[in-house]
Amino acid sequence: MKRVIILGATGSIGTQTLDVIKNFRDNFKVVGLTAYNNVDLLAQQIEEFNPEVVAVKDENKAYKLKAKINKNIEILTGQKGLQNIVEYEADLVVVAVEGIAGLLPTVKAIERGKDIALANKEVLVTAGKIVMDLAKKKKINFLPVDSEHSAILQCLRGNDKKEISRLILTASGGPFRGMKYEDLKKVTVEQTLRHPNWKMGKKITVDSATLMNKGFEVIEAKWLFDISEDKIDVIVHPQSIIHSMVEYIDGSVIAQLATADMRIPIQYALNYPTRNYINGINFLDFSITTQLTFEKPDLETFRCLSLAYEALKIGGTMTTVLNAADEIAVSLFLNKKIEFLQIAEIIEESMKEHNNIQNPTLDDIINVDKEVKEKIAKKYMR
Ligand SMILES: NC(=O)c1ccc[n+]([C@@H]2O[C@H](COP(=O)([O-])OP(=O)(O)OC[C@H]3O[C@@H](n4cnc5c(N)ncnc54)[C@H](OP(=O)(O)O)[C@@H]3O)[C@@H](O)[C@H]2O)c1
Repeated sequence: MKRVIILGATGSIGTQTLDVIKNFRDNFKVVGLTAYNNVDLLAQQIEEFNPEVVAVKDENKAYKLKAKINKNIEILTGQKGLQNIVEYEADLVVVAVEGIAGLLPTVKAIERGKDIALANKEVLVTAGKIVMDLAKKKKINFLPVDSEHSAILQCLRGNDKKEISRLILTASGGPFRGMKYEDLKKVTVEQTLRHPNWKMGKKITVDSATLMNKGFEVIEAKWLFDISEDKIDVIVHPQSIIHSMVEYIDGSVIAQLATADMRIPIQYALNYPTRNYINGINFLDFSITTQLTFEKPDLETFRCLSLAYEALKIGGTMTTVLNAADEIAVSLFLNKKIEFLQIAEIIEESMKEHNNIQNPTLDDIINVDKEVKEKIAKKYMR
């Protein structure tokens, strides 16, 4: 039985991971769960999955949680608690928290020799080299949950990496596909959160609308598959049926197709290298799916994708700046402090002002993240 800890159990990926685990009760034991604020849902999950330990944001949340449950389990608190939970005995840690909060627990879990199922792309965007070097050193399985990277992993199976010509990441294009710069001046938070194909947390939904999510995925792909950025392309595919492709040197392209349901890549990461059936998954029906279309991304309108390529080329702490500036800019946008188009402007400004550290330590990364966020907050949160 695989012992699993889920960081961010109350989020979109976290709840879907538990839904997948329900299908394989004999194969997985839920050891630990974390939430940040949502202790109501965490209490329900505790009753249903009987973990040994949980972690929440602070003492207040812990008191609230204790009052809601009938079980005497360990409750850790604070950022330290959210990190220390990975020290409990487990085989696999699912990292499904949002933002840079995923970084230190991931590093700690790898140091303890645990396999990782990574949903949180920000970990690799901000500290890809450090994390992947450590994963190699510790010889752990580092598995993607993101549908695009799961697709690539599947397309690479049985093939020689030396024969790859390029990776092709597909993008739905988000809610504003086809719009031009002028059209985006007035878009609201509510419109931005209406993703056409996927139901996800708010941060990633905004990132999908700006195409920063795809930029993050390019960076994630570079580190996960150890491939240079000039061999990673993005193509808009509005139907979200092909989840990504690998082109080989003979011109053959291998693609992975499925319905847009995150439980498919989640089950692949949990059961890897095997596959398993999950109740309620819709299978593709090619008599209904008549169209698979493709178009080039509009890099002039959706600047965030170009900024991500630029940060990746520069390397070092520039991708940390990209991530930090995006995290705070998206939060400002969600709180209606800035307009949609200002997200890219703030990120570009932060990148221009940054003195890059080419070979950063983990401490450098944490410090740069903090400095960038404080600077932006000071300027815009008046
Ligand atoms: N959703 C998707 O389909 C999808 C697909 C691919 C990749 N991802 C990636 O997966 C990650 C999670 O996305 P999501 O859509 O599941 O997000 P989400 O629904 O917003 O869930 C985020 C989870 O993290 C917790 N959390 C929030 N802030 C935290 C902090 N500062 N410290 C510790 N925990 C914190 C939340 O707790 P509370 O609920 O208590 O606030 C929740 O459990 C993101 O990195 C995203 O890019 C998501």
